[in-house]
Amino acid sequence: MRSSGPRRRSGLWGRLPVGYGAPDDRPRAPDPARKPSPPALPCLRRGAAPVKAPSAALAGSAASSTPPVLATTAGDLPLEEYRLALDGHTWAILHTGAILSDEDEERFLRGDQPRLPYGIALWPAAIALAHELAARGVRGQRLLELGAGTGLPGIVAAALGAHVVQTDKNAAALVVCRKNAERNAVAPEQRAADWTAWSDTARYDLIVGADILYAESLHPQLRHIFDTNLAPGGRLLIADPFRPASLPLLEAMAADGWSVAFNKWTVGVVPPPRPIGVFELTRRG
Ligand SMILES: C[S@@+](CC[C@H](N)C(=O)[O-])C[C@H]1O[C@@H](n2cnc3c(N)ncnc32)[C@H](O)[C@@H]1O
Repeated sequence: MRSSGPRRRSGLWGRLPVGYGAPDDRPRAPDPARKPSPPALPCLRRGAAPVKAPSAALAGSAASSTPPVLATTAGDLPLEEYRLALDGHTWAILHTGAILSDEDEERFLRGDQPRLPYGIALWPAAIALAHELAARGVRGQRLLELGAGTGLPGIVAAALGAHVVQTDKNAAALVVCRKNAERNAVAPEQRAADWTAWSDTARYDLIVGADILYAESLHPQLRHIFDTNLAPGGRLLIADPFRPASLPLLEAMAADGWSVAFNKWTVGVVPPPRPIGVFELTRRG
């Protein structure tokens, strides 16, 4: 998964503090026995769209044979580059490791080393969401990305003409996200914002997030953002690998009168590929 080759030992952006999150503030490795099948939400329609993230795309930096490192208080983390080529565009995203398969995720979450911020890894939901945004077209839309991490979906949307605000609470993730925007020659607004201390009152045509529903304790705060920051007629696009912890919020919103639908994407080439739902929620009426 990691690119090989010489590694530069000095950091690009100074040494960043990384720490541990609250115990429930983390994705859970999927438990195959408990994993719900998508039809668990009866209101949802299933779309189908083939997407693959070839492992060959996870190459070292094309620009340099010495990949950059992210210097953190947990040590120097070599960065890899993920390349997404779509409709004549190519985006290059730095990250500390891509989590494409269930096995990758189990390894990442096993916890036999200091746990790194989730936002500096590239999660498969981000890849699916980037494809979904490109397929839909977002030109001219005001778009808010929550939990942006390394920033792939918002960066793709900005390149395709959306007015993008990318947010995350994690400082290290925002540093990588900023660097990724620069590398892709886009300038979305990017700022630190915590769902638990939310102050943005702007309205957005699209609110998007990849793998942000994993902590049920944060659902009330996310619901508040969805309820208050979505413009009339706007839509939410939330990508999620069908985590059991994610579904109660979607079900509650459906019960409260939101229309919920999803497209199922498949990310990764190591069997079994990872199914990702991109859930679209709109207010009825
Ligand atoms: C599983 S990672 C997904 C990152 C990225 N969207 C992706 O898919 O590659 C979850 C992200 O949500 C962010 N996050 C978690 N809790 C948050 C909170 N309370 N406020 C803002 N961001 C938060 C994390 O910092 C992290 O970047």
